[in-house]
Amino acid sequence: MSSEKRAWWKEAVVYQIYPRSFADSNGDGIGDLNGITAHLDYLKALGVDVIWVSPVYASPNDDNGYDISDYRAIMPEFGTMEDFDRMLEGIHARGMKLVMDLVANHSSDEHAWFVESRKGRDNPYRDYYIWRDGRDGAEPNNWGSCFSGSAWQYDEASGQYYLHLFSRKQPDLNWANPKVRDGIFDMMCWWCDKGIDGFRMDVIGMIGKENYDDGPVAPGALYGDFSPSCMHTETTHRYLREMRQRVLDKYDLLTVGEAGGGPEDAIRYSNIDGSELNMTFHFEHTDGLNDGTELGKWSDHGSPLKEVRATINRWQTALQGKAWNTMHMSNHDQPRQVSRFGNDSPLWRVKSAQMLGTLLHMMRGTPYVYQGEELGMTNIYFDSIDQYQDIEVKNAWKQWVESGRVDAVDMLRWFAKISRDNARTPMQWNRQPNAGFTTGTPWIAVNPNYLAVNAEDEMADPDSVFNYYRRLIALRHEHDIIVYGEFVPLLEDDANVYAYRRVLDGKALTVMCNWTDRTVPCALSTDGGEELISNYPSHKPGFLRPYEARVLLGEA
Ligand code: GLC
Ligand code: CA
Repeated sequence: MSSEKRAWWKEAVVYQIYPRSFADSNGDGIGDLNGITAHLDYLKALGVDVIWVSPVYASPNDDNGYDISDYRAIMPEFGTMEDFDRMLEGIHARGMKLVMDLVANHSSDEHAWFVESRKGRDNPYRDYYIWRDGRDGAEPNNWGSCFSGSAWQYDEASGQYYLHLFSRKQPDLNWANPKVRDGIFDMMCWWCDKGIDGFRMDVIGMIGKENYDDGPVAPGALYGDFSPSCMHTETTHRYLREMRQRVLDKYDLLTVGEAGGGPEDAIRYSNIDGSELNMTFHFEHTDGLNDGTELGKWSDHGSPLKEVRATINRWQTALQGKAWNTMHMSNHDQPRQVSRFGNDSPLWRVKSAQMLGTLLHMMRGTPYVYQGEELGMTNIYFDSIDQYQDIEVKNAWKQWVESGRVDAVDMLRWFAKISRDNARTPMQWNRQPNAGFTTGTPWIAVNPNYLAVNAEDEMADPDSVFNYYRRLIALRHEHDIIVYGEFVPLLEDDANVYAYRRVLDGKALTVMCNWTDRTVPCALSTDGGEELISNYPSHKPGFLRPYEARVLLGEA
C-alpha cells in the first residue's frame, strides 16, 4: 500500500470559475453569482468535487477583482451576500465544495485601511502598508512592478512612496505589522465560519518582504527584480505557519498557494508534515518556459514537448513522498491550453484537448480544470490593442510600444499568443447570441467559434471534449492508483510521445500521449492491459495516431 496519507483534497478535481466571464443572469454583460448558481447542475454533470471562484469581493476592478476594497462584501456587479449564500447552499446541496480566492498580499487602494493609511504619516493605519521615503529625489529602490513601471507610487501629500508589486491601485499590505495579520486571519475565520471549504491564496509567496535592497537588473530591462527580497522568503514561511495555527488548523480546508518558485519551494509550502499549505501552483511549465528576456513573458517561445516534459517530470519526481502537487496547464492568467500546448485547428482541436486532459488528469497531484477547458475552448487571437481589457496588456503596451522600444506587430503577436484575455472571453454555453453567456453586451468579446465549441452541443456528443473530461474525472474517483500511485517517467527522450507510469499495490497504469499531428511509432506496448480510456475508438498496435492518448491498467 502506498505510504501516502489519504485526504479528500487529494482525491478531488477542482474547477475554477472566473465569475466575470462564466454566466450573466441579468443582462448587464457581466457574469455574476446567480449565473453560477444557475449552472451548478452542469458542474455536477461534469463530476467535479470542488469549485474555486476567482474573487467575488467588493472591488473597483482595476485588476478584475484582484484588488479588493472590502473583504467581507460582495461586488455589487456580481450580486449580494444573499446571492452568495444561495450559491454556497446550492454547491453543498450537490455534494460539492467551495474554495474562495484569498487576495491578501495587497488590497485595493480604495480599501478603508488604505484610505486611512494615505491620510498621513501619523494615521494609525499608516503601517498597514509599506511606505518609504524616496532616495535622491526618486523611488526608494529600483524594483519594477509585475504590471510594468516602478513598484513605487509617490504620494504628494505625505511626500512618501508606497509599494505596489502589481498595479498602483493594489498597494502591498505590510504583513510585518501584527495588526495586518490579525485583520486578515479574522477575515479568513469569518468566511470559514460561513461554511466555505478552502482558500486559493493569491501570490502568497510574496507576502514576506525580507528587505528593500535594489534587485538585479536583467540586460535591457528597465527595472530591478524584486524576487530576491520578496519571493519565497523565510518571513513568508513564518507567516504561513502562523496562519496554519491561527486559522487553517481549526477547519477542514483545501488550501492551495499561488506560490510559483521551484520544487524546493513547493516542498516547504506544501510539505506533507502539514505545517503550511496542502498544495501549491507552480508555473515552470507555463510562464517559466516563456520568461527570460527583458520583456518578461512576452516572447515567441513556444511549448516544445521536450521542455514541457522535462519540467513537469522534474516536479512530479521531486515532490513525490515530500509534498502534494497540483496539475494544471491553464487558468485566468494563462492562454487557453489547447492553443498553447495542443492544436486548436478545427481538425485537431478535440483530439489534442482530450490528449492534454489525459496527460494532466493521470498525473500525481490534484487536477484543476479552468472554465471552458472541458469544452476545448481556444484562444481568441485579438489583433488590435483596443480589443484587450487586461491591465497587464495595457501597461505593457505603454511601457514597450508607445515608448518606441518594441515593434507593435511583435507585441500584438505575443499578446495574441499568451495574454490573459485569451482565457477571459465568455464561457460558451450554446448557439444563442453571445454563446448564451448574456442577453446584453458582453464586457469582453465572445470567441466567434462558439457555434462549433459550446456546452450544449458537447454534452449531447459522446465524442466531445466535455464527455471525455467527464470520464477522466470519474476515473479518478474509481481508481486509487490515479490518486496515490507512484509516478515513474517513461521514454524521456522520445521526440513525439509523452509517456509515464503510475504504480500502486502491484498494479501499473501506463499513460501514452502522442504530442504531434502525425501517426508515430510507440516504443511501449500499446495493448498490455485493460484500456481505461482513449480518445480513439479503436487501436493500432505499436502506433499512436495524431494526438492519441491511451491509458492501460495492468500488472506492475
Ligand atoms: C495573481 C492572480 C492575477 C492577479 C495577480 C495580482 O497572479 O492570479 O490574476 O492579477 O495575482 O493579484
Ligand atoms: Ca450580470
